[in-house]
Formats: sequence, structure tokens, C-alpha cells
Amino acid sequence: MKERKIPKAVKGLTAAEARAEHERLAAEIARNDERYYREDAPTISDAEYDALRRRYEALEKQFPALVTKRSLSEKVGAAPSEKFAKVRHKVPVLSLSNVFADAEVEDFVARIRRFLGLAADAPLAMTAEPKIDGLSCSLRYEAGKLVQAATRGDGYEGEDVTANVETISEIPHVLKGEAPDVLEVRGEVYMRRADFAALNARQTEAGKPTFANPRNSAAGSLRQLDPSITAGRPLHFFAYAWGEVSAMPADTQMGMVRAFKAYGLQVNPLTVLCHSAEELLRHYRDIEGRRASLPYDIDGVVYKVDSLALQNRLGFVSRAPRWAAAHKFPAEQATTILRDIEIQVGRTGALTPVARLEPVTVGGVVVANATLHNEDEIERLKIRIGDTVVIRRAGDVIPQVVRVVEDKPRGKKEYHFPTHCPICGSEAVRELDPRTGRKDVVRRCTGGLICPAQAVERLKHFVSRRAFDVEGLGEKQIEQFYREGLITKPADIFTLAARDAKSATKLKDREGYGETSVRNLFAAIEARRRIPLNRFIYALGIRHVGETNARRLARHFGTFAALRAAARVAKEGSEARAEIDNIEGLGEVVAEAVADFFAEKRNEDQLDALLGCVTPLPMEEVVSASPIAGKTIVFTGSLERMTRDEAKAQAERLGAKVAASVSSKTDLVVAGPGAGSKLAKAAELGIETIDEEQWLRLAGAATD
Ligand code: IVH
Repeated sequence: MKERKIPKAVKGLTAAEARAEHERLAAEIARNDERYYREDAPTISDAEYDALRRRYEALEKQFPALVTKRSLSEKVGAAPSEKFAKVRHKVPVLSLSNVFADAEVEDFVARIRRFLGLAADAPLAMTAEPKIDGLSCSLRYEAGKLVQAATRGDGYEGEDVTANVETISEIPHVLKGEAPDVLEVRGEVYMRRADFAALNARQTEAGKPTFANPRNSAAGSLRQLDPSITAGRPLHFFAYAWGEVSAMPADTQMGMVRAFKAYGLQVNPLTVLCHSAEELLRHYRDIEGRRASLPYDIDGVVYKVDSLALQNRLGFVSRAPRWAAAHKFPAEQATTILRDIEIQVGRTGALTPVARLEPVTVGGVVVANATLHNEDEIERLKIRIGDTVVIRRAGDVIPQVVRVVEDKPRGKKEYHFPTHCPICGSEAVRELDPRTGRKDVVRRCTGGLICPAQAVERLKHFVSRRAFDVEGLGEKQIEQFYREGLITKPADIFTLAARDAKSATKLKDREGYGETSVRNLFAAIEARRRIPLNRFIYALGIRHVGETNARRLARHFGTFAALRAAARVAKEGSEARAEIDNIEGLGEVVAEAVADFFAEKRNEDQLDALLGCVTPLPMEEVVSASPIAGKTIVFTGSLERMTRDEAKAQAERLGAKVAASVSSKTDLVVAGPGAGSKLAKAAELGIETIDEEQWLRLAGAATD
């Protein structure tokens, strides 16, 4: 962690000290606002910014004389930039006050109740919805037509981005239904994570600067002087608030959101109605749990009083409504010092640079290592050992180094990527892709099976959860057994018990083992002698054959013998090669990797040994054992992770029938957002109903 003086408690400051610090903080916050709002290029993390802001507010609370008209607590964001025409907001665009701890959520609700004079048992409905990490935008519709779009700016005056917003396909130019004559819809313009990554890749390709995160890339894309650039950027919009409205279509927050939806605007499907602080917190945890799997970044959950009459009574305090609060997630970015870069060698020989860091807390977890991806990424970051770096952690994804903080003292030592494998010393090369003529981003060890790192990593992969999943045989045990020569290839796992029986030095007599644990380990290994074909293929660790491709190969060939027979003769230009290439979802690269694997004598030898111990179950048997086999399923509402056709095909592959309507013969209904009458019918008939996530889990489990 970087050196930071622990600030004195606000209570212990003299008025003069408080004034000096208040002034210093004001300048620092203003500088960061400028970077965030106008340059779309912040240099500190959100958590650090929030800490500055909190300290500033604490000072003002303790020393009210510091609050003047110029005080930052009276302002939102930064004044609009000169690039665009200015738009005066008729109703100011305000901000939200933040809460972080559970107790603060309870206080927030208690404060509202007190303010309204509600009895402890009087009902109070509140909405809870994700806080989208994008930039807010106000859309003005007159007679149902989009006439103006503006950024927030400083809350009073924003930038006119109408021409740019008109290029966002998700934002209707004309509203559906009976919209009020004047309607200012407010919401968040955002970019999906995958689109952000693709955009950055394109920027790199074109030698242009990349964006730090999806928020900045959305802001940078919207605030383009040339709308044709915005048009090429995939932006999205969620509506969640409003400004001027000539005739309110509803009298609740939820009702307004529903009205927006009816007008053809996108609203967030994770918006729910809650009735207590406990329920708000429950939804917060639920959303937090889904965070990593959402396609867009969110940075908290927003709570709002549902009744608009109550919202009116509650009103505002300086820059934020009293009736709403943002419950922020723990920080997911932090700055720390890069101590060293180490190279790890994976099972395919890929050399991966790992950043060894001064440990720092990111999103509630201590992070000491982060990935640097590859050689090009190190080049791009221009990183030196000793640099101060920004670390980012999204959900359970591996933490990554985002960038170097350039205005901190730079590290002294330049870093050069090795040209030889640090484990076996063989040369490490970047293969030239004959098709694109470009060098692979990954440098690989050419040591093959003589490289212990590759052998160990292959074994770890072989026993991993989605492959053979042998209980009691984890990474630690594999490393130990490999070192001792007990397990050096997959088949050794299945001969371990027999060899142990004959050996003088028994496993059960070792430190850390006992009779029971050894018996359990051997039983776990026995249980895996029969294994679904898709898992078996995945376990082999063929390049480009992950879980999904393994499943595709398994489904297509049905048995391992069929796959092997085809793969053995799959030379370039052959019929067998074309057959693999043509499997839905595969292609040339995968077909080549499969052929290469089976063309390698050492792999074939290992396979023979392995097949002497293990039986891969033909797919027919796997499918008939699936919990979905023979069931009748109905899909309704919209699906977000796959198309309707994909879902149908998946269900049929697993032996289910897909029906169009719900009847007493239906076994299961999979309902997405917007599900209507079919969902109601299912409830009426008492038919089990699950959402898309649950369906994916069920379908995944069925072939596992
Ligand atoms: S409501 C008067 N709801 O967060 C209340 N804001 O930190 C207006 N934001 O300026 C805001 N998701 O840009 C609201 N579901 C959501 C939001 C949301 C993201 C942004 C918005 C706002 C900022 C406040």
C-alpha cells in the first residue's frame, strides 16, 4: 500500500487546520472531478475518491462554517466542456448519497421513517436496482419524439449530445404508446464489458489510446464531436429516473419504470420492490452475487422510496435526494506497488507473466498477485519493477493490472520478457500464425513433455473439477506425487492403489495421510473409472478444446473410438479434417489442434495407457442419465445469454421435448424477463418455473 499519513480525527482538528484541509481537499476533489467527468480518464480509484469526499463532508459536518455556496457538497460533477453546446436542465440532475455498511442502510431507512413520522409497523415500500457504472444522460421527448439528449454536466447545465444519442439503437427516436407530451427520461448510457474489450483491442490495433474501463469508454464514445464515431460504438441505455414530465403516467417509482418500458425504453430487469431494510440488503447480496456474470459493470445497488408522494415530502439535501441512496460495493480497484514479475508456465507451455504485488485489499479481498496477460500487454503498459499500478478485480475473475500510475515516482528497473522457459530452459517462441501472418501473443516453451511445468499443469488440469474431478487429489497432491515420481502421467493415477499395495513405503504411513484418507482417495479414483465422454475429452487438455468444444466433439462423435478414428486420419485437406472443422461451433483452428494432438506419438501412448484404466461413457448413456431427459419444457420471456433456438437445441440434445405452450403435460418452464401469460399459467398449474441462470446450471449439470 502506498504511504499515506493517517488523518487526524476530524473532532481533534482546530478550526484553522480544518479550513486548510478543507481547501486542500476541495482542490484535490475538483482536480479528480475534472479528470473523471471531462477527460474521461480518472487517475485514482472510485474508493479513493469516495474517501476524499467523505473526509470533506466530515469536515463540513464538524465545522459548518466551512459550508458556503462554493462548497463542493453543493455541486455535482464538473461544468460541461466547451466542445459541445450547453443545455440547461429544467429540473436539475442530482446525485445520490452513498452508503457502504449494512448498518448505514438500516439508518437510511430509519431516517426516512422518522422524517415521515411513520410508525414502526407502517408499511414503507422501496425499490432496489443495480447502480449502472456508465454515465447519466437525460433524454427529452416532446410529443413522443426525441428532441434533445444531454449529459449531466454539473447537474444544472450539461452538454448537448443529441446527434450522438440518436445513433444508439436501443434509444427509441419515437416512443410507443401514449407518452406524456413532454417527458424527460433519465438513465445511464453504458457499454457492455465484452464490447469494451473488443473496442480496446481495435484501438490497440489502430495504434490509438485504449480506455481504462467500460465506463470511460462509454463516456468517451458518447462525447465524440463526430457522431459517426459514436455510431460505431455499441452503447446501451437503462432508464431509471426522469426530469420534466407534463403529466405523470404513474404515482410510484416502479410504476414510472414500467411506463418507460411500455414506451419502448430499456429498464433494468433486476429492479424489485422491497418492504424493509432486511429485504433491501437481501436484494443487495443477490445482485452482488450476480455481479460477475452480468454483461455490464455495476458498482452498487440503488434504493428509492417507491411512492412519489413520499419522495416529494422527503425532498433533497444539498445535492442528493433524501429518498434515495446508493449502496456501493466494496472497491474493486486499488493502487499498489509492483514488486516483481514472475513467469508461470502453463500446461500448453504458455509463458504467463504474473505481477507480484505489495498486498492490497481490492473489493474486500487481499490481492498479492495479478495477471499481466502477455508480453504485448507488458509492452503496452510500459511497466517497470517498482511502479505504482492500478489493480482491478471483477467478481471472482483473476485480478489484473490495469495501468501504471504515471504521476507517482516510476520504478527503476526495466523489465524484459524472457526468451527461454524458466522451468526447463528450452527456447520459448512466439509462433507465427500462417493464416494471419501475425505473431501469436503468447510465447510458448518448446520443451513439450520434457518440461516438468507442462507435465504437472496437464495433470492438474486432468484432475480438476470440470475434468476428472478426483476428490482428495488436488493441485498440492499432484505436485507432491509428481516430484516423487509417483504420478507423472494420467494413467499413473489409476495404478496408484495397486502400486501402493506392493510398495514398502505406504501412502497411509505418510505425514498428512492416514488409513481413512488413503481409503477415501482410492475410492474417489475408482469412482472415476467410468466418466462422461465430454469430460474425458476435456481432461486431455487438447489445445483450443475447453469444456464447450469438448462437449461439441463428444456430441458429434458419440464415442471416444469414433473421435479417435477420425482424428487420427485428419490430415490437412482430408475428409476427416473437414468433418471436425464443420462441427457447429468448431472450425479450422480447433480441427488442426485435435489432429495435431492425435498425430503426436507420445500422446497416443499415454491414451492407450489411460484407456486401459478408464472407460469414457458414450454420449447416449450420458444423455439418458440427464435429469432433463424425457421432460417437456416451455421457454418464455426473453433470454439474455442465448437465443431461443440455442436454448431449444440444447434442451433437445439433452433428451427433452420443447413445447410452445404451457399445459398440464409441461414439466418445466424457463422464464426470462418479460414473461407474461405462460408464466401465469405455469403458476396456476403449479409447474416448476426457473430462470435462465438456473436453466444453464441444470443443462450444464446434465452433461457433467
Ligand atoms: S437514480 C435523483 N438509479 O449514479 C436520483 N442513478 O451516483 C437520480 N446511476 O447520477 C439517480 N445507476 O448517473 C439512479 N439505477 C440508478 C443508477 C443511477 C447509476 C448513476 C447516475 C447518478 C449516479 C449517482
